[in-house]
Amino acid sequence: GAPVEVDISKIEPGQRLTVEWRGKPIWIVRRTQENLQELESLNALLRDPNSEAIQQPKYAQNATRSLKPEYLVVIGICTHLGCSPSFVKKDDPQAASIREGWKGGFFCPCHGSLFDLAGRVYQGVPAPLNLVVPPYTYLSETKIMVG
Ligand code: FES
Repeated sequence: GAPVEVDISKIEPGQRLTVEWRGKPIWIVRRTQENLQELESLNALLRDPNSEAIQQPKYAQNATRSLKPEYLVVIGICTHLGCSPSFVKKDDPQAASIREGWKGGFFCPCHGSLFDLAGRVYQGVPAPLNLVVPPYTYLSETKIMVG
């Protein structure tokens, strides 16, 4: 499949944009400063906080799993059996009913896997691995290329 260019200039903080690459959904989430701070506090709750168990680009092996902290770029497919997780914000009432104290992120309705806003999987759910970060580069401040 050909690489896909994405204009990220219209994504508001806290919002997600979905595009398609090689038949897969690619999510681009613009995280808020609050989101980024929360990511640093979650390690003890996560299965693989430093993304050591997964083959992925080097730049995805940091706390934000991204080239630029603000923007998460991830393949939107659950690493358990391939369902499509939902994007749930922290202030969505659904977040609290899914797991108490959950700060939002991605929830897979098929078997209940939970991921944070860096696509890192929580402990105690079936998904074995963090969500996969695809290869991507920045073409400019407002444009990325996936693939
Ligand atoms: Fe997502 Fe099973 S496919 S939890």
